[in-house]
Amino acid sequence: MQLLLTNIRQLVTVRSSGKPFKAGKAMRDLGVIENASVLVEDGFIRWIGTAGDFSNTLNADADTLDCSTYVALPGFVDSHTHALFAGSRELEFAWRSEGKTYQEIAAQGGGILNSVQATRAATKKELKKLASRRLDSMMMHGTTTVEIKSGYGLSEDAEIKMVEAISELANEHFMTIRSTFLGAHAMPPEFRTQRSEYITLLCERMMPHIAKRKLAQFCDVFCEEGYFTLDESRRILEEARKHGLGLKLHSDEFTSLGGTQLAAELGAISVDHLEHVSDEAIRALAGTKTIAVVLPGVSFFLRNPYAPARKLIDAGIPVSIASDFNPGSCMSSSMPLMMTIACTQMSMTPEEAITASTLNGAAAIGLSDQYGSIEVGKRADIVLFDVPNYRYLLYHFGTNHAAKIIKHGTILEFS
Ligand code: NIG
Ligand code: FE
Repeated sequence: MQLLLTNIRQLVTVRSSGKPFKAGKAMRDLGVIENASVLVEDGFIRWIGTAGDFSNTLNADADTLDCSTYVALPGFVDSHTHALFAGSRELEFAWRSEGKTYQEIAAQGGGILNSVQATRAATKKELKKLASRRLDSMMMHGTTTVEIKSGYGLSEDAEIKMVEAISELANEHFMTIRSTFLGAHAMPPEFRTQRSEYITLLCERMMPHIAKRKLAQFCDVFCEEGYFTLDESRRILEEARKHGLGLKLHSDEFTSLGGTQLAAELGAISVDHLEHVSDEAIRALAGTKTIAVVLPGVSFFLRNPYAPARKLIDAGIPVSIASDFNPGSCMSSSMPLMMTIACTQMSMTPEEAITASTLNGAAAIGLSDQYGSIEVGKRADIVLFDVPNYRYLLYHFGTNHAAKIIKHGTILEFS
């Protein structure tokens, strides 16, 4: 099966020539080819060049798609989402518009625990149906790979229901999905006075079960005042490492507890949020391979400070952008929107934002050897946007410019 994309107005390859991510000035190098062609074979990228080169070097008998009105980018990799949940929290959104903060709403029984109630009450089938529709919508906006976390169950049964649902979706949906166990998202009400018992349950029952059945690839903790302390986060992540899970951490979202230094010390694959990251933590992160995942939509939605992306990039730290799509702190999964906010509010350049949403996103979930750039040998996840050039995609925001989504070499049709 061959597919030839010809006359692509601009091909944004984000090529990294074997490097797992881009950091520093390299984040601005998108490897753009004007008037390009790409040959896809059996779901993989086989050849890339200019349209002129193609006819001279290859004589393929491929289905041909004229892309003269399109700009092609690698499918976006959204490396941090909570896309599996039941219920919704528009009332909290309204309260915030009247000045209540996320933490005040959580303290009054809203927040994560609100979604926990609805998610516990839903069947696995119902959760999958809700998430599947959300995944369709993400794909229609150009996302072809996502990470999804558990964390709205907070009991053995409900957490396992969540990671099973995510793993089943990974087999059934076109989207490439990585699963993260986030049993440490909040302290369940039943364990409020027995914190250590809940962590024992997490480490000694849920984690071995999940790791053995390979229901998750990563383990994450919400390290934050009112959620999990630094010591508790360490205990959970060290245990996760023993089970062979990759490590992630929600760190410095509202307060700075030292989670970022912990993530650096433990060799986490990513450390996420960083709205209140300290200069000391940035120094600890610099030089490690941990990806800093910033979530522009959360600051926008909660009216919180933005993570200092400029400082992180200038310190040589690889930065990724993700949506954090969830019912509480960011009810949007549009990666182009996240990129626009990153440019207008965080002083990232359009080039850096694109690298952060593709190659570096793939690196934050351990998939950049296969996804995140358009390079020979990688999977053919390519999105064709109906825009005159790649900058226009971020500049003209709030509208969906994705015209065709190519996933593993297949042009998807959405009903
Ligand atoms: O990443 N920070 C913790 N978890 C989510 C919020 C989840 C929720 O409010 O339901 C986040 O922002
Ligand atoms: Fe999150």
